[in-house]
Amino acid sequence: MNKRLIRPGSRLDHLAAMIQPSYSTIWDCCCDHGHLGMRLLKERCADQVIFVDLLENIMAALATKLALDFPQDQYSYQVRCDDIKNIQVPAQESQLFIIAGVGPHQTIEFIDSLCASAPDTVFDLLICSVHGNYAVRQALINQGYRLREERIVFDKNRFYEAIYLSKSADQPLVETGQQMWNWADPVHRDYWHRAVGHYQQKAKKDPAQFLPIIKRYELLRDSISQTGQHPTTASTLLPAS
Ligand SMILES: C[S@@+](CC[C@H](N)C(=O)[O-])C[C@H]1O[C@@H](n2cnc3c(N)ncnc32)[C@H](O)[C@@H]1O
Repeated sequence: MNKRLIRPGSRLDHLAAMIQPSYSTIWDCCCDHGHLGMRLLKERCADQVIFVDLLENIMAALATKLALDFPQDQYSYQVRCDDIKNIQVPAQESQLFIIAGVGPHQTIEFIDSLCASAPDTVFDLLICSVHGNYAVRQALINQGYRLREERIVFDKNRFYEAIYLSKSADQPLVETGQQMWNWADPVHRDYWHRAVGHYQQKAKKDPAQFLPIIKRYELLRDSISQTGQHPTTASTLLPAS
């Protein structure tokens, strides 16, 4: 078996480390080569792992690899070649859906589709969109999600937000992020500048939509850098993309 499926300190390594075991089922949505799901299978973070992706050739190769490295008499898993939007969330307790490595519009589409498929079933989410986190967080807030843990991840010269959510978690979810920010960390300050720079570009075309978002990030920075405290107000919904 490949001993090291995931590079230490990488985005996928952070995602794996955030998950609090144990779930009955973890769904590795948009799994691609399945590295994250295989790591979770190996660490027995769930009774079973379900791998889902659209790509037939990748899923066939994954099925072959799993058969070699994870004997079915020792590990429980399924390989599904399907669109995430076709998944009907089963009425089952203790499930985690991971959506990582796709853009914000797809991420939101998948979150909304999973929630709509089973309005009475609660399940946890681990989200890591490639960008556009303000809008992703708004969608999660609209679906009633609260925060378990969030991290700023810097990997291969790109920034990500890793967001672990549950509807029964203690902390509210905030569009700008909250507990993940450590203003003493220059990497986090760099991320803040990049995020604000992105919305400043967008505000040139659509100031009504994006200037309020910039204001939210500025308030966050002022609050953390001056008082060391995160703003604790419940989030005010603002439009974003
Ligand atoms: C860049 S990979 C992400 C792999 C892994 N989750 C990660 O974070 O590194 C994106 C994957 O999403 C899959 N994908 C895109 N749209 C999908 C959909 N509607 N349903 C299932 N998989 C999809 C693609 O086939 C691709 O393998």
